[in-house]
Amino acid sequence: MSATIAILSQKGGTGKTTTVRTLADVFRRADLSVLVVDLDPQGNLSDYFDVPPDASPTIADVLVGRAKAKEAVVNGVLPANLTLAEAELALAGKMGRELTLRRALREVAKDYDVVLMDCPPTLGLLTVNALVAADYALLTAEAQYFAMQGVDQATALIELAKDGLNPDLEWLGVVLTIADLRTTHSREARENLREHIGDRLFDTVIRASIAYAESAERGVSILDHKPARGVDYIALADEVLERLKMPTARRKVKAMLPAPA
Ligand SMILES: Nc1ncnc2c1ncn2[C@@H]1O[C@H](COP(=O)(O)OP(=O)(O)OP(=O)(O)O)[C@@H](O)[C@H]1O
Ligand SMILES: [Mg+2]
Repeated sequence: MSATIAILSQKGGTGKTTTVRTLADVFRRADLSVLVVDLDPQGNLSDYFDVPPDASPTIADVLVGRAKAKEAVVNGVLPANLTLAEAELALAGKMGRELTLRRALREVAKDYDVVLMDCPPTLGLLTVNALVAADYALLTAEAQYFAMQGVDQATALIELAKDGLNPDLEWLGVVLTIADLRTTHSREARENLREHIGDRLFDTVIRASIAYAESAERGVSILDHKPARGVDYIALADEVLERLKMPTARRKVKAMLPAPA
């Protein structure tokens, strides 16, 4: 059984790409086979996994029917670059435009335990394609007063996808990222979200740290660059695997957590 997860947010810079790549790092270390799908024309995720910007074919070719998803996957990455912006426009005029990714991924997804899709920072056609192709939706929200608004908008889109094209879509949860819980501001944002969405909010909070920018720049996983921070994503992976009901991988992830002091 494979689980396909769309990682999305209505806003930019909420840690989507960081979440996809770091969860992929943790899952792979727990011996899960992981496919990451870059659905952002910015190509940040592909960059992180060292896919050259002129790689071909990419997800853009897959979406317009020029290539099969299998042909575009390199080392567990289905990459994107700026050509995806054009492909999105071309897709907009087609029949079944919301179903294209779902159809394209069907064959390839079953070769993996987990498929993680990194959405662009808009709730447009690419994000809709991800939600229609997904089994689960994971929202990232920055720990700020405005987080709620973004979560509400993304929630509305998820409900639309469930009502229409993908009734089996399930919530995985909402994770608060780039949080400094020493500030009242971040703590209030968290309380506010908890009141609003209850159990959907993951207990794990991804703390803000400059180490993430450094690790992205160096192309080194946060798990190696700064294990004391990487531990946040190990805790998130643990919660995610609990919700996905994958106990074997969860045991391996738990073993990566430092022993309680
Ligand atoms: N926990 C964190 N603490 C501090 N900085 C972070 C954290 N997580 C990510 N960042 C940094 O914040 C920036 C945005 O992160 P990221 O690219 O993951 O967000 P995104 O939601 O994918 O952005 P976009 O919407 O543009 O695709 C990056 O420079 C990243 O290194
Ligand atoms: Mg991103």
